[in-house]
Amino acid sequence: MSAAPDPPLARIELLGEHEGRRVRLQGWLYNRRSSSKLHFLQVRDGTGIVQCVVARADVRPEVFQQAGELGQESSLKLCGTVQADRRAPGGFELLLDDLEVLQNVDGYPISPKEHGVAFLLEHRHLWLRSRRPHAVLRIRAELERACHDFLDAQGFLRLDTPILTPAACEGSTTLFETDYFGQKAFLTQSGQLYSEAGCQAFGRVYCFGPTFRAEKSKTRRHLMEFWMVEPEAAFLDLEGDIELAEGLVCALLERVLERCRPELETLERELAPLEAIARPFPRLTYAEAVQRLRKAGLAVEFGDDFGGDEETALSQGFERPLVIHRYPASLKPFYMKCDPEDPSVVLNMDILAPQGYGEIIGGSVREEQLDVLDAQMREKGVDSGPLEWYRDLRRYGSVPHAGFGLGLERTLTWICGLHHLRETIPFPRMLGRLHP
Ligand code: 4AD
Ligand code: MG
Repeated sequence: MSAAPDPPLARIELLGEHEGRRVRLQGWLYNRRSSSKLHFLQVRDGTGIVQCVVARADVRPEVFQQAGELGQESSLKLCGTVQADRRAPGGFELLLDDLEVLQNVDGYPISPKEHGVAFLLEHRHLWLRSRRPHAVLRIRAELERACHDFLDAQGFLRLDTPILTPAACEGSTTLFETDYFGQKAFLTQSGQLYSEAGCQAFGRVYCFGPTFRAEKSKTRRHLMEFWMVEPEAAFLDLEGDIELAEGLVCALLERVLERCRPELETLERELAPLEAIARPFPRLTYAEAVQRLRKAGLAVEFGDDFGGDEETALSQGFERPLVIHRYPASLKPFYMKCDPEDPSVVLNMDILAPQGYGEIIGGSVREEQLDVLDAQMREKGVDSGPLEWYRDLRRYGSVPHAGFGLGLERTLTWICGLHHLRETIPFPRMLGRLHP
């Protein structure tokens, strides 16, 4: 006689496909309630949480005893029958008949009670198992997928740019330096310069990867390591660049509203402000923005950069993201092209998220003439030595081109309605935090 075959291994999110049948589950104990005749085990497997009912009458005595001694986050393999239950969160529960305990845990540090943020960040490696990080990080993964889908559909080729680089892209004050076999190297601040080479090779490219800024600012909008998606296109002007950015932002919102409703609900994100967003986005020149700020009583002079307070003040009064273009050249990096109509400003654009979430996108037209680029490098004190290859791009088939970078964590902070961007990345790197 042959042994009965193992029941199929089920995922909690798809439990409904197994209604009325016996399945195996593997996962961790999220919570437990016990009485003399019944144990209710909340089990999670990463895809969801399901209630497993252990009835004294239905299982071997040692199984019933073991189930009653399980601590939070004990690792388990279980067998049981899937049963529809309208009161259960996912619509189903499991009537357990067998249990294997891989590890019974005593004293898991994160209990269902409230913990302070410092404690949770210290235990981020465990905090990842909780509902809130689950919701945020699932939306993060969906946003990444949507970035790829949108840009792929627009004919952009994904081109991976290096992390170790010989030169700065966004200025020398925020570089992480490292030793490269006796040579100085820096962690990349942006893949842009390499994407510029890519767009002359493939027409339209984008990079999407981690970028690094040694920002000595302890704000709720700054990480030392963050992810950026950066499209770059040959023959693109500022208008085209803005339209591309509007298209990307709308595609991201659409995707999250379509696929991440349960996660947004977990985060108690108000949906109406997200649903209201459509193209075109309102626009202000930098000069108009300064005027507005001064009218609102902020002490801003033409030529000042905008910080968090200014960004928040500017986005008030707009339901949609706000495009601010043509900043003073003095505030911006060497590669931006000056406006031929007013060379004191550059052909750039920043996009500020509504509701005070700050800048999510920065982009520009790039200077494509070698002599002008050289002059701008000299003026900004940029060493052209490590950028000889970049100057080549202006020697061989130079064309007008533009691009931008969208900060994934800033965008996620806005879409999830979070107070601080530290929750938007699995292991945040902040001023004074390198662990875990
Ligand atoms: O405006 P930034 O510095 O632009 C660039 O790096 C360009 N090279 C991009 C390009 O044109 N290809 O940065 C772009 C975006 C910002 O709008 C913001 O969303 C995000 O990157 N960002 C940060 N996010 C988290 N922490 C930081 N320290 C960030 N610095 C920039
Ligand atoms: Mg910027």
